[in-house]
Amino acid sequence: MAKDPVAGFSFRRLCSIVSVLCAWSFVSFIYWCRRYGPCSYSLYPKMEQQQNQINDLLTFPSAWNQLVFSSNPPPKFLKIALFVKKWPHKSQAGGLERHALTLHLALAKKGHELHIFTTSPPNSSFPTYPLSNLCFHLSKPTAAGYLDQALVWKLFQTQNSTRRPFDVIHTESVGLLHTRSRNQSNLAVTWHGIAYETIHSDIIQELLRSPKEPQGYAFTERLTKVVEEVRFFPSYAHHVATSDHVGDVLKRIYMIPDERVHIILNGVDEEIFKPDIVKGKDFKQKFGVPESKTLVLGMAGRLVKDKGHPLMFEALKQMLQENDAFRQSVVVLVAGNGPWGARYRDLGSNVLVLGPLEQAQLADFYNAIDIFVNPTLRAQGLDHTLLEAMLSGKPVMATRLASITGSVVVGPEVGYTFSPTIASLKKTLYRVWDDGRGDLKQKGQAAKQRGLQLFTATKMAAAYERLFLCLSNNEKNGDNYCQYQTP
Ligand SMILES: *[C@@H]1O[C@H](CO)[C@@H](O)[C@H](O)[C@H]1NC(C)=O
Ligand SMILES: *[C@@H]1O[C@H](CO)[C@@H](O)[C@H](O)[C@H]1NC(C)=O
Ligand SMILES: *[C@@H]1O[C@H](CO)[C@@H](O)[C@H](O)[C@H]1NC(C)=O
Repeated sequence: MAKDPVAGFSFRRLCSIVSVLCAWSFVSFIYWCRRYGPCSYSLYPKMEQQQNQINDLLTFPSAWNQLVFSSNPPPKFLKIALFVKKWPHKSQAGGLERHALTLHLALAKKGHELHIFTTSPPNSSFPTYPLSNLCFHLSKPTAAGYLDQALVWKLFQTQNSTRRPFDVIHTESVGLLHTRSRNQSNLAVTWHGIAYETIHSDIIQELLRSPKEPQGYAFTERLTKVVEEVRFFPSYAHHVATSDHVGDVLKRIYMIPDERVHIILNGVDEEIFKPDIVKGKDFKQKFGVPESKTLVLGMAGRLVKDKGHPLMFEALKQMLQENDAFRQSVVVLVAGNGPWGARYRDLGSNVLVLGPLEQAQLADFYNAIDIFVNPTLRAQGLDHTLLEAMLSGKPVMATRLASITGSVVVGPEVGYTFSPTIASLKKTLYRVWDDGRGDLKQKGQAAKQRGLQLFTATKMAAAYERLFLCLSNNEKNGDNYCQYQTP
């Protein structure tokens, strides 16, 4: 007997309708549940922990960048002392100097009175700024290039005793040594690399060392350095960690009480680093990037061993040799200079070495690329280039170092991470290539969102301003700068 085709059809159809309905209601349940409460699990740590009211900001355990501080003029103008070994000549400077420049210019622009104690440059030229409330106190560096502590302390005290005393003292790393910082309760130090972090770099460098090279920094010496730091760090009243990881290490390994450790992630100028499609196109044209290339990788910074360039060089060399399709579709833009610049040139027309770029050109460079790659081996501080790329709307690919995975590339939605080995680097580069421009654009959007939420210079300056206000808090005057209320 023949099967009844109509009945069979409708049964199957019913089945599929039911399963579609079922799947739909399951998905909407999950969506509703995650959005409105009952399911509190999350695949990634939540980017923003909404806090409406905090009674003591000094005990806030996460990055202050997450909080929203009022952009109104400050409730009071502070007199701030900064100790920094060197004041950068140009905005190209990296790390600590860049941080000092961005942050303190922003605070001066907000109207605070800034006194910067730093070394005089070897020649007589020193940058000038059109801000009457920004005052430099230069002194001759010691033979080793440090701030002459006795001298700067004298300069500081002269300033402190004439007119009004300082409200707060800030030191970039050991600009002001612990022997001087002791007993100053309104003092904060910002760390841009601590010895404990560097152990990771030591391990990587040792693994990558060829038998011909001499061994680098001895491990026992590094451990001694960590122990030294654990001993002298408590002489600083307040500590600012520039990444979530360092915040954790300062509390857990350096044993500094929680209420003296504050996390304020680095920020970069969002007026300079922002998406601009036209500028990106012009940049590609100017440097002769062929339209046929469907993936543009970008790297920027000093082209030295520490920054992982030997590893990247080897990975690219192998990939360009072994894979024709990769060679035909990929171009790598390398900004910056250093010994590895010339070696990259040897890789042929797939790699364009651009030399060092001015800040405005660097902003265009980020717009020209599809993804920013930073193979750094230095596990110190929070790299500015990654933040610049994200604010420009680009996904990033970086080494799996704790500060990066903990604060920047926190999940696959904003980029990729790899272990510092040639195999892992190649595998990840092939992943990026496979995912292609469409996926990268999407990740770039998420990267920009995260960047705007956390890594703008405005956010960083607002967080420091609030910390400094809180350190100068005078409850007798009715000040409540250590309390936080969502504006
Ligand atoms: C002065 O020194 C700085 C760095 O120390 C350098 O960048 C600058 O070009 C020098 N200026 C002159 C006029 O030599
Ligand atoms: C700065 O001046 C104030 C007010 O005179 C004083 O209390 C404070 O101890 C001075 N700070 C230093 C480090 O000398
Ligand atoms: C800091 O204070 C302690 C006691 O509170 C004192 O013994 C010490 O001499 C002070 N150190 C400095 C450098 O003023």
